[in-house]
Parts: sequence; C-alpha cells; structure tokens
Amino acid sequence: MAEVVFSQQTLATLDGQVVVMTGGAQGIGAATVQKAVEAGAHVFFGDWADEKGREVEAALKASQAKGTANFQKVDVSNYASQLALFDAAHQAHGRVDIAISCAAVGEPAGYFEPASLDLQSIREEPRALKSNLDINVTSVLMFSRMALAYIKASKSASSSPSPSIVLVSSIAGITEAPGLFAYSTAKHGVIGLMRALRPVAPLRYGVRVNAICPWATDTQLLAGVKGRWVEEKLPLNQPSDVAQMILQCAADPELNGKSVFVAGGRGYDTEEGYNKTQGQWMGEKLAEEWHRGQAVLGLGDDWTD
Ligand SMILES: NC(=O)c1ccc[n+]([C@@H]2O[C@H](COP(=O)([O-])OP(=O)(O)OC[C@H]3O[C@@H](n4cnc5c(N)ncnc54)[C@H](O)[C@@H]3O)[C@@H](O)[C@H]2O)c1
Repeated sequence: MAEVVFSQQTLATLDGQVVVMTGGAQGIGAATVQKAVEAGAHVFFGDWADEKGREVEAALKASQAKGTANFQKVDVSNYASQLALFDAAHQAHGRVDIAISCAAVGEPAGYFEPASLDLQSIREEPRALKSNLDINVTSVLMFSRMALAYIKASKSASSSPSPSIVLVSSIAGITEAPGLFAYSTAKHGVIGLMRALRPVAPLRYGVRVNAICPWATDTQLLAGVKGRWVEEKLPLNQPSDVAQMILQCAADPELNGKSVFVAGGRGYDTEEGYNKTQGQWMGEKLAEEWHRGQAVLGLGDDWTD
C-alpha cells in the first residue's frame, strides 16, 4: 500500500515560499491556509466567501504566525478574477512557488430525478449544471495553466526547492458517487488533468503536480450526510488531516503524479495500485501494447495541434 505520510520537517520547508490558493475561507482550505502560514509561507488565497475569507486573514494576522495571509475575493469561474490572485502574489514577492486549487461547490439537486426529467423540463437549459462544471473543473484547468506561467516566470527569483501544483479532487473523482452527477464529472476531470500534466510539467516547467482525493471530511459540504456517516461509524477526516496531505504534496520533492485518497485522517496514493495492476484489468497483451502506444504519443509535442 502506498501510504503518503505527513512530515512536520517537510512542512517546515514552506518557510518563505509564496503560495497561491483558491478556496481558503472555510473548511479544508482554511485549515490549509493556517498550516502553511504557521510554517512561514506567504499565502495568497481567494474565495467567493468574502467575509469568512477576511476573518481567516485577520485571525492569522493577529497571531504569531511566521508567514503572511493575504485574502482577496475571487470567483474562480471568472478568468480575470483568478488571474488577479496570481498577480497579487507575483507583484508582492516577484514569484509564485506553489499553487493549490481547492475551491469547489457541491451538486445542484434535482437535475437527474425521474419525477421531473421529461421532454418538457429538458427544454430549459440546465444552467446550474454548467456553472457547477465552470467552478469545479473548467476553473481548475485555467488555474493550472496560470500556475505554470507564473511559476515559470518566477524561476530566477524563486528560492523554492521544488515548485508544485496541488489540485483538490475527491473520492468522487476516482470511484462512483451516487447522486453527484456534475460534481463527479468535474472531479474525475481534475484527476484527468493531473494525469495529463504529470509527465509534462516536471520536464517542461520543473513543476510537480499531484491531486488530493478526500473521502468524507467534516465541513459544510458533508452536512447533508454527516449524521448517517457518524451513526455508521465510518471514517471521517478533520479538515486539518486533508490540509496536511495537501501541504505534504505541495512541499515533498519526491511526490509527483499521485492521487492521494484521504480517509480517516490518513493518505494513500491510488495511482500506484492502478498502474501496478494494469496487466490484470487490461490484460497483459493489451497492457504491453498500451505502453508502446504511450511511447508513440510521447509528450504530445509531435502530433497535437
Ligand atoms: N468535505 C468533504 O467531504 C470533501 C470530500 C471530497 C472532496 N472535497 C473537496 O475539498 C475541497 C474543499 O471543500 P470543503 O469540504 O472544505 O468545502 P467548503 O465548502 O467548506 O469549502 C469550499 C470553498 O470553496 C469556495 N468557493 C466555492 N465556489 C467558489 C467560487 N466560484 N470562487 C471562489 N471560491 C469558491 C467556498 O466559498 C468555500 O470557501 C473542495 O474541492 C471539495 O470538493 C471535500
């Protein structure tokens, strides 16, 4: 089993590094901002929840934390808004070392219910589904592209030993998730993006890329099912458990291309098992052909437009 273990020593290497992060006003994001700032990082975090974001910023400013917390209101589904967050970090420090995409929303209810889905209701465009994808996956693609550009532009000024991108997906990005049609589409998309970037970003940009896949975590997103969860004594993460895995991936120079499933406070890379068992689920012959096909595709430079 490929357990990813949090190390306080690795966290300490964030001292002085410049972190750009979406989300952060509450839940997992707020716990991540707090730990990173306490470790000495300069964190620029953007969230739609203006008031809560300012509260997190003010609490950290009033604390003895080594680093700095810098909040601005951001709508991740707005390109210019996300870009302004990177600009703020770059203008203040001349560099960006780490980028963490954490903001997301839950599923808009009612779009796949047999009782209401018919040839009449289908005539109305389901805007809430589209905007869910804008927030949960399209913005993550844009964020990753911005992160590469800003980290690349930072190289000479950067003291980062190992720049990286961390994308927060979900258990719903690697297994089936009943009732979460748009959310699951988006979170699988985030894993697809991490897989597309992991061979290219380290070679072309010197940037590592990892994904975090939390299972049930005690935040407002889980509120609807938390009661049953606790009753059934199922594993429950605290936001700080997930924050530790996010920051381990952000800081550990050995980690690239992982999907870290976080359950009951511990993290396990699911990519290792997926890759190791390829011959079993694909068949040995096809797996061998697939590897040869991947060699033909290379890094995608020769054949993509
Ligand atoms: N809580 C869980 O059980 C769980 C499980 C799997 C994955 N996750 C993922 O973890 C991450 C953090 O979730 P959380 O549980 O802390 O939930 P949360 O709701 O507490 O935090 C999500 C944050 O994203 C922000 N946000 C939403 N839309 C935004 C927008 N358009 N622009 C800017 N900010 C926006 C919210 O304001 C909020 O602060 C999310 O990516 C979520 O999908 C959570």
